[in-house]
Amino acid sequence: MHMEFSTSGAALVLCAITLILVALHGRRKYPGRSFPPGPQPWPLVGNLFQMERQIHLSLTKLREQYGDVFQVKLGSMEVVVLSGYSTIKDALVRQADAFAGRPELFSFSAIANGTSMSFSEKYGEAWVLHKKICRNALRTFSQTKPQDSSASCLLEERISAEATYMVETLKEQGQEAGNSGIDPTQLLVTSVANVVCTLCFGKRYAHDDKEFLTIVNVNTEVLRLFAAGSLVDFFPIFQYLPNPALRKMLEFINRMNNFMEHHIQEHLATFDRNCIRDITDALIAMCEDRQEGEESSLLSDSQIVHSVIELFGAGFDTIITGLQWSLLYLIKFPDIQAKIFEEIDSQVGMDRLPQLKDKPSMPYTEAFMFEVFRHASYMPFTIPHSTTEDVTLNGFFIPKDTCVFINQYQVNHDKEIWEDPNLFQPQRFLTLSGHLNKNLSEKVMIFGMGIRRCLGDSVARLEMFMFITTLLHRLHIENVPGQELDLSPLFGLTMKPKPFRIKIVPRN
Ligand code: HEM
Repeated sequence: MHMEFSTSGAALVLCAITLILVALHGRRKYPGRSFPPGPQPWPLVGNLFQMERQIHLSLTKLREQYGDVFQVKLGSMEVVVLSGYSTIKDALVRQADAFAGRPELFSFSAIANGTSMSFSEKYGEAWVLHKKICRNALRTFSQTKPQDSSASCLLEERISAEATYMVETLKEQGQEAGNSGIDPTQLLVTSVANVVCTLCFGKRYAHDDKEFLTIVNVNTEVLRLFAAGSLVDFFPIFQYLPNPALRKMLEFINRMNNFMEHHIQEHLATFDRNCIRDITDALIAMCEDRQEGEESSLLSDSQIVHSVIELFGAGFDTIITGLQWSLLYLIKFPDIQAKIFEEIDSQVGMDRLPQLKDKPSMPYTEAFMFEVFRHASYMPFTIPHSTTEDVTLNGFFIPKDTCVFINQYQVNHDKEIWEDPNLFQPQRFLTLSGHLNKNLSEKVMIFGMGIRRCLGDSVARLEMFMFITTLLHRLHIENVPGQELDLSPLFGLTMKPKPFRIKIVPRN
């Protein structure tokens, strides 16, 4: 018995030594280099068991011990975690090329068959061109003239129409529900989904349309499974074992792609360059404008047109979640809601709907949106980055192809930038004369920074502004009697608030 114990004990010690040697081997390739510090990893699982479920909180705590650049091991993957506004700026802006890659993760390669601009395409000349074309297509569409309203562009017209529909529906549902209130989630989901469908494919659906609801549900499922399937990224062995969640995710991604493909083919058949209907048309126009030759050899037309799939996916859940948090803060802090009413009444009045042109004269409402982004920090990390070359940051050496997490939550709660970071105070973004403090608002990290910065940040801000102001132009949103409001999030790809109900009271 004793003999057995010492044999297995010796085997364990041997295993541990081997793992340590393997870990050290990587470092021996770079003698004399100073690697980022970090907690001691366990064999096989690395530091995974040292992480709370809300991993951003654990990584924020570790920053206090190890500083702005430290290293953890998640399963078999080394991850360098960056915190602190100026360190992150140094990496993503001053050393932009070196930090602009994406890690080769299994779940990333499942999207768009490994040709996704956001997740899997290799950083280089073709990627730079791809992002530029997507940016130009979004811009072209944003500047398309409205059809029949005084809106500044077609984009604003469509968002305003959907927000107005949402308000009318909320009013009806609210009247029926009375004091028991309603859960606004489904209506938010279908309203924002409809905006995305009109932007990408020029098609608005009835909220109970079967095809539409299928796509909305498939998209929600893809995101849920995408988050759940990420274990495969840290333990690649799982991709070879039966994994129903992963199989389901791939199946859903396939269904989503078929739906998109159908719309793309329809657009190609009916394209008219004098009438840009939506982002798909704008992308087709970009292909037609390209010169034959070098550019076309970098990127195929099909790859460009298929970018609409990522713009569709990216502009969905991120905005719904932003609006869910906004509603929760509005009912939690009625005095803040009252200040937005004041601004709407003085700057817009009751005779017309809020418009994008009102935004510059409504600094408090903008400050509210910045405070929602900062306080909720519902995208605590950017999409993971990776290094495209060996690089040094804050004196620490980071080899090429290292996975890098950017802790946006930490920046948004850094005591060196924000007074009482845990309090929800839109006022913090206003100067003494009541203007928006741009120096401070640009420190809110929710869209990333530098070359990889979110492509849809201005569309997202426009959409959230239009939804929030159109809603509060017509309705009071109140807490339901007796409902405790909890501001702690549910962890996920984007962090959602816990379910809550709202009571709707029309404003006269
Ligand atoms: C409030 C809403 C939104 C939030 C919070 C958000 C946030 C983000 C974040 C954190 C990233 C990753 C940046 C990085 O990796 O460093 C990102 C990337 C991206 N976003 Fe957004 N986003 C929003 C809305 C949108 C919309 C509406 C669109 C499209 C119309 C969009 C398109 C993209 C694209 C294409 C990328 C990939 C960029 C790249 O890989 O270079 N996003 N977004």
